[in-house]
Amino acid sequence: MKILSKEVIANYAGARIIKLSVFAPEISLKARAGNFVVVMVNEKGERIPLTIVDADSKAGSITLIFQEAGLTTRILGALDAGDKLYALSGPLGHATEIKNYGKVILVGGGVGIAEILPVARALKEAGLPAGQAGNHITAILGSRNKGMLILEAELKSASDQLYIMTDDGSYGLRGFTTDILKELLSKDKYDLIYSVGPIPMMKKVTEIAAEYKVKTLVSLNALMVDATGMCGCCRVSIFGEVKFSCVDGPEFDGSGVDWAELEKRNKAYSIQEKHICNLSRYIKP
Ligand SMILES: Cc1cc2nc3c(=O)[nH]c(=O)nc-3n(C[C@H](O)[C@H](O)[C@H](O)COP(=O)(O)OP(=O)(O)OC[C@H]3O[C@@H](n4cnc5c(N)ncnc54)[C@H](O)[C@@H]3O)c2cc1C
Ligand code: FES
Repeated sequence: MKILSKEVIANYAGARIIKLSVFAPEISLKARAGNFVVVMVNEKGERIPLTIVDADSKAGSITLIFQEAGLTTRILGALDAGDKLYALSGPLGHATEIKNYGKVILVGGGVGIAEILPVARALKEAGLPAGQAGNHITAILGSRNKGMLILEAELKSASDQLYIMTDDGSYGLRGFTTDILKELLSKDKYDLIYSVGPIPMMKKVTEIAAEYKVKTLVSLNALMVDATGMCGCCRVSIFGEVKFSCVDGPEFDGSGVDWAELEKRNKAYSIQEKHICNLSRYIKP
């Protein structure tokens, strides 16, 4: 699983978001919007889930975009074109149901912007009779500041309307994605909302959408280990029922998610995650 190319697409105050094209011909043939892969960077490393942002079956490649969050993503970020990943499995998870919903709002926060891109493209283009317009797509992108904003041009071409929100007002409008979401829902009728990003954002998006009776799909970032439905690590409660995010999701109806439980479970290893011990043991100088 050779890395074909690497690009740092955001780098602000040491926080980096990186785009990799990886040679994975079998995965590229089957990947659909909403799928993810599990990456093992090296033989002794952990397994981390990353969304398949794009797939090119002719070139046999898939695109991954990730933020350096902790140890494994930093080891991955230190690799270059020509380096190899130890293992890659996928495509995993249910693909997004692509059909003509009508007017759809996609809300992406932080690196979640990368995760809404394949869904925006598929909803815009897919499976419609010739001559008919696809879904009408409104994309709302949120980032801390201009330096951390990613994929503006790509989302612009995949959507009919684009809004950019930054926490500090350094680009687009100042405020949160949910501010503009509320404004849009108060003025017009929408048929579906799709949201990926930090848990508090997805929770708030779901609450606002419920006020306007619009269904919201969220892609959950539950902790995963095997990602094949065997370990139970990614357990989430949806409408009071236990689901495994890796095989039953990662997309769920946001109004059924037990957000408090998800937040609590995602903090289970926060002490261990602080030990970004001795990166130099893993990264070649
Ligand atoms: C289905 C799915 C798709 C994802 N897609 C992307 C993506 O496209 N781009 C991206 O940047 N991130 C994505 N993530 C999150 C990504 O997996 C974590 O950022 C990564 O695992 C962090 O590992 P770390 O060792 O670098 O950081 P750590 O310091 O170990 O953890 C940092 C944070 O990342 C999360 N995390 C850690 N380990 C895991 C794990 N095994 N499974 C899930 N979350 C974990 C936790 O919230 C943790 O607090 C996705 C998560 C899921 C569940
Ligand atoms: S990650 Fe093990 S059951 Fe989902």
